[in-house]
Amino acid sequence: TTRVLTGITTTGTPHLGNYVGALRPAIAASRQAGVDAFYFLADYHALIKCEDPERIERSRREIAATWLAAGLDPEQVTFYRQSDIPEVAELCWVLNCVTAKGLMNRAHAYKAAVDQNNAAGVEPDDGVTMGLFSYPVLMAADILIFNAHKVPVGRDQVQHLEMARDIAQRFNHMYGKGRAIFTLPEAVVDEEGAVLPGLDGRKMSKSYNNTVPLFEGGAKGLREAIARIVTDSRAPGEPKDAESSHLYPIFRAFATPEQDQAFRAALADGMSWGDAKKTVVDCIEAVVGPMRARYEELMAAPVRVEEILQLGAEKARKLAEPLMDEVRQAVGLRAAK
Ligand code: TYM
Repeated sequence: TTRVLTGITTTGTPHLGNYVGALRPAIAASRQAGVDAFYFLADYHALIKCEDPERIERSRREIAATWLAAGLDPEQVTFYRQSDIPEVAELCWVLNCVTAKGLMNRAHAYKAAVDQNNAAGVEPDDGVTMGLFSYPVLMAADILIFNAHKVPVGRDQVQHLEMARDIAQRFNHMYGKGRAIFTLPEAVVDEEGAVLPGLDGRKMSKSYNNTVPLFEGGAKGLREAIARIVTDSRAPGEPKDAESSHLYPIFRAFATPEQDQAFRAALADGMSWGDAKKTVVDCIEAVVGPMRARYEELMAAPVRVEEILQLGAEKARKLAEPLMDEVRQAVGLRAAK
C-alpha cells in the first residue's frame, strides 16, 4: 500500500484554493484502492503565523469540519491533529540536530520575511522566530514520522518536500547503518489545482487578501466575492475571451468539461460579464452548497468532531511510537534492541 499524507495549517478560514489544491485531490486519493491516507490539522504550524489563541481554536474547528464536510471518511483515513502526536515534536528536535542551517536559509517563507524586512529598511531577521525559520523541519517531522510515500500539496509546498527528502536522506546516511530508517517522500501536485489564482489573478492566499471563502458567508458571501473580480470593459454583446479573465481559472476548477465548453462559447458569443459571474457562482455553488450544509452541522457538533480526532490520534500514534523508538535507538538516546 501507498501511504499518502498531507496537512493544512489551522490559521484562517479555508478558501477555494485550499479546497482545489489540497482537500479535493487528497480526498480523491484516499478513496483509491491500495492507499492508506493520513490527513491532519497542522496546529503547531499555526503557532508560527498566529498569536491569537481564539483564532487558532476557531480555525482548527473550521478546518476539521471542512475536511469532514468535503467528504473525508474518518473510518478510511487516519484523521488527526498534529499536536496530539507528541512524537512529531520529539522527532522535530532530532531532525533539527541533523539539518544544516544553510538549508533553512533558503526556505521561501523565511526568505520572503527577510526580503520584506530589507525592503522596509529594518534588520533582516526582524520579527523572524525560530518557528518560522525552521518551519520546514517541523514539516519534515510530520511526514517522516509516518514514513509517508506521497504528499499531495499545492505548488507552494514543493520546496518543503524537497527539504524533507534532504533531511531524511541525511538522517539515513548518518544513522541508518546502510538501512533507510525514513522513507523519502514525494510531492504530488495536482496540475488542475496546483495554483488557484485569487480574485486579482495572483495565487489565492490569505496573505494577499484575495481569497474566496469555501463556506464562510454562505452562498451570499460566494456571490459577493465573485462580484469583486475585475473584468475588462467589454460590453454585453461584444465577444470575450474566457481565458484572459481572472474569472475563468476559478470557474474551470469546478466546471465539468461540458460546462467549460458552453461557458467559453457563450462568452465568445457576447455573454455579459455579469451573466458570466452568475454562471460561475451557480457552478461553484452546485458543488459547495451540499458540503456547506454538512459543514454547518459539524460546526454545531464540536464534541463529535473532537471524538473523531481522538480516534485518529490513537490510530496515528500506533505507528509514530515504534518509529520514534527506532529513531531514539538509532541516534543512541536508548540502547539498541
Ligand atoms: P497551507 O495551510 O498554507 O495550505 C494547505 C494546502 O493548500 C494548498 N494551497 C493551494 N493550492 C492551490 N492553490 C492555492 N491558491 C493554494 N493555497 C494553498 C497548499 O499548497 C497546501 O497543500 N506547511 C503546510 C501545511 C503542512 C503540511 C505538512 C503539508 C504542515 N505539515 C506536511 C503537507 C505535509 C501549509 O502551511 O499549507
